[in-house]
Amino acid sequence: MEVSEEGIIRRVQSIAQSPLSRVPPEYIQHPNTRPVFNTPTQPHNVPLIDLSFFDPTRRTSTRESIARACRDWGAFHVTNHGVPLSLLTAIRRVGRAYFSDCSMPEKLRYACSTAASEGYGSKMLATSDQKQDDAVAQVLDWRDYFDHHTLPLSRRNPDRWPEFSPDYRDTVARYSDEMKILAQKLLALISESLGLRASCIEDAVGEFYQNITISYYPPCPEPDLTLGLQSHSDMGAITLLIQDDVEGLQALKSGDGGGDQWVTVEPLSDAVLVLLGDQTEIITNGKYRSCEHRAITNPDRARLSVATFHDPAKTVKISPASELINESSPAKYRDVVYGDHVLSWYTKGPEGKRNIDALLLHS
Ligand code: OGA
Ligand code: NI
Repeated sequence: MEVSEEGIIRRVQSIAQSPLSRVPPEYIQHPNTRPVFNTPTQPHNVPLIDLSFFDPTRRTSTRESIARACRDWGAFHVTNHGVPLSLLTAIRRVGRAYFSDCSMPEKLRYACSTAASEGYGSKMLATSDQKQDDAVAQVLDWRDYFDHHTLPLSRRNPDRWPEFSPDYRDTVARYSDEMKILAQKLLALISESLGLRASCIEDAVGEFYQNITISYYPPCPEPDLTLGLQSHSDMGAITLLIQDDVEGLQALKSGDGGGDQWVTVEPLSDAVLVLLGDQTEIITNGKYRSCEHRAITNPDRARLSVATFHDPAKTVKISPASELINESSPAKYRDVVYGDHVLSWYTKGPEGKRNIDALLLHS
């Protein structure tokens, strides 16, 4: 099984390690989705917010900064977030060891083949026989990943995670618990920044379904034709992401009157990047938008990131918060059962924000 697995799904790391001056054709992006490298460096950067959570004198200004960042970007870095910095270092270390130092047969013991299942994967979307008729031909991402199901605790089974580093499983479990606490604090601040009660968004999401995805982007011989991860917004409520010191993540900044621009998110080793997901866009009735983002590749250095997703259960129905709806501000989104949103994302592909845009009323 493990051996044939490698035949069905090619690991990007294996392709990158073979002598190669060109990427295989299935990794070549259509001309309109290829990254452009020759534009001058953007002056923009994702906002940085210092969270001194329990200091009441700063809470109002923190909320105002959060409101601005959520409106302008749907993304921001936080510092003083309460997660021990040693834990951020530890998860990067065990993740890096798994991808860089563990042999391929050992890695393949954890192989997963279908989208959204737990384990070592390379292909984000459903395979073509699972796909729907309106799906576009799939271009593959230049990325391998390991997805961990971490919350609720009933989904967490560390026996399914690597033990290549002796502290791998314990580190992922501790990281999961810390990220949950941070996600709750952030959703409270985000709710308050809209004048809602602190628990509003978390109540709408319900118990968190949390997944932690460690992504590994091998060096790529043709970065101008390839994407590490295609453009998308995250489908859940809130994503907390850390990266190593190699650049590659880009956020789409909507222009003030001008066009949209891809902005590279500077790697900050002590900060956590917050990305608003599609469910937060619906719950806030579009007052805050989910962040469209992608990863680009480079020819020299492998890149590692750790993304922690906080999603509703598949059965939860998400709708705009009633507090934000009135005659002059009607609901902008159709209600959606979260599982249906996930299914459309994995079968049709994200293509930027098309799945959330499809829920817009009167569009
Ligand atoms: C993701 C994601 C970006 C990155 O996993 O959804 O956007 O930098 N990752 O790996
Ligand atoms: Ni993402």
